[in-house]
Parts: sequence; C-alpha cells; structure tokens
Amino acid sequence: MSMRERLRGKDFLTLMDFEPVEINFMLDVAADLKRKWSMKEPHPYLQGRTIAMIFEKHSTRTRFSFQAAIAHLGAQSFYAVPAQMQLARGEPIKDTARIIDRYCDALVIRTYGQDVVEEYAEYMESPVINALTDLTHPCQGLADMLTIREHKGRIAGLKLAYVGDPWNVCQTLMVCSSLLGMDIYVAVPKGWSPAKVIMDFAEEQAKKRGTEVVVTDDLEEALRGADVVYANTFHSMGHKDIEERKKAFAKYQINRETLSWAKPDAIFMHCLPGYRGEEMTDEVIEGPQSVVFDEGENRMHTEKAVLALMVP
Ligand code: CP
Ligand code: NVA
Repeated sequence: MSMRERLRGKDFLTLMDFEPVEINFMLDVAADLKRKWSMKEPHPYLQGRTIAMIFEKHSTRTRFSFQAAIAHLGAQSFYAVPAQMQLARGEPIKDTARIIDRYCDALVIRTYGQDVVEEYAEYMESPVINALTDLTHPCQGLADMLTIREHKGRIAGLKLAYVGDPWNVCQTLMVCSSLLGMDIYVAVPKGWSPAKVIMDFAEEQAKKRGTEVVVTDDLEEALRGADVVYANTFHSMGHKDIEERKKAFAKYQINRETLSWAKPDAIFMHCLPGYRGEEMTDEVIEGPQSVVFDEGENRMHTEKAVLALMVP
C-alpha cells in the first residue's frame, strides 16, 4: 500500500499508532511544506474543506498553529470551547461527533482523557487529530522530531534528556524516541513516573532497536552526554497539586551548571509555555543552545503535514 493510502483518512490520536516509516514520511512532508512556506509558494491542498477545533484546555501554540496551517492549506477552521456547546448541557459526545462529521472534514481536539478523543474517532468518519490529552501530545512530538532532525541532522543514535512533568509531553517523547532510535533519559524525583502503558510500549520498541529508555532520579545521569536537553513544566494543565510539585521537582532545573553536564553542542528544547525560574532559567531559554522558537514554529509545519496527508 502506498504511503498516501496508508495515511489518508487515518486518525492522529497517538504516535503509537504509526510505524517509524510513516512518522519519517510525515517529517519529510513537513520539511517540504516548510520550504514552500519559506519561499512563499502557495500550497492550498485542502481548498474548500472545513475543519472543526474543540479546545477544552488553554492553548496558544496549538490553536494558532493549526489555524494558520488550515488557512495556508486553503481550508476553513471553526474554533469552539465545550462550555459554549450543547456538550455543556449534557449532549453526548457520540451525538456531537456525528453532527460535526456531517459538516467537517476533520476534527482537531484538545481535552483531558484519551478516551474522549477515542470516542470522537469511533463516531466520526473524518480524521480526529489529538491536540493534547493527559496521555499524549502527538502534534508536539512530531514538531520536536523535526526540530531535532534540523538541528542535529538525525534522530537515531542521539540521547535526549527530559526534565519535568512525566506526563503527556514526556510520554510522547518516549514514544517518538523509542520508535525512531533515540535514547531517552527521564529525570524525575523518586515516586514520580510516566504512565505504565507508555513505559511498556517504549521499552518494547527500544528493545527492538537496541536503544535505551531510562527513568532516573539522578539528574546528572540523565544529562551526561545528552545531545538534546528537553525541559517541561513541573505542573501541567489540570493539576491541582502545584505547590507540592514545585517542591518535589525543585532540584530538577536546567540552568547554566546543569546544562553544562550535557554535550557542549546540546540543544535546549521546551514545548512551552515555560516557567522561568522553575524548570529552567531565563539564561538557558534565551541562551545560544535554545531552539525553542524553531520548535514552536515547527508545530505549524508538522500539523500542516498531518492535515494534508490525512484529510481525505
Ligand atoms: N506546546 C503547546 O501545546 O502549547 P499550547 O498549550 O500553547 O498550545
Ligand atoms: N504538560 C503540559 C503541556 C502543555 C503544552 C500540559 O499538559 O499542561
């Protein structure tokens, strides 16, 4: 089956549903779309299509990058928050999903449970794209892989060190790393860990490729020899135990000293939004090793690739 047929009409709920060859193809398409955008070459591959966006959590990057990507592709987006939809009055997801499906060629959704995006996907013919759940943030993962490939020339054979909440973004990076041949070290205080379903998947994939998936409370072990240093907030959207987390994770900060434990040419990444003075210092995010704004830009190019490839 051609790559086009493999991806056309498929949901984008988690990168665990994709083969490495498919992820690499999406990255190639994203790089091509980035080139076209840089050269101001029009690329309206989805002219006349309509794309619904339902966001139940805050967003800056994901919302704007999708809306820009959809506009560049010649399609139209509709943005809604559940509080203003009949969902808030108890209309079931399965009815909402079937109605949106009659109007729209895809749904981009940011919510809490992975089961919610799965339910929309079950009741919609059109592709459902996960714009972040508690479990995973596949759009971020794809943009991060493109950024690493651009700055390091490859993904396989590198070491990524992750510091921060061992949640959606961390879990996505574990999936990407283990599928694309990169070692990943997650530094978290004792008692914190990524979800078991992700650990199991990443360990199985890493074993196939002879790479490492390590969760450690030793920040130095995670950072030594790292090519990519990735920080994320200690407290994610929906968490109530913010003060407890800040205290528990306080020692896991990327600052001038801890960044120096990584390779001298390591890049610094962060999905943003970031909290200066918590998971990283201002000096690091603004410093020469930081690629966070390239990473943010790549959200638009990779999401555009997902839409162009998957919307039928
Ligand atoms: N990284 C990311 O998803 O950012 P937003 O929450 O601003 O969309
Ligand atoms: N872990 C973060 C990611 C934000 C883009 C959160 O869910 O809040």
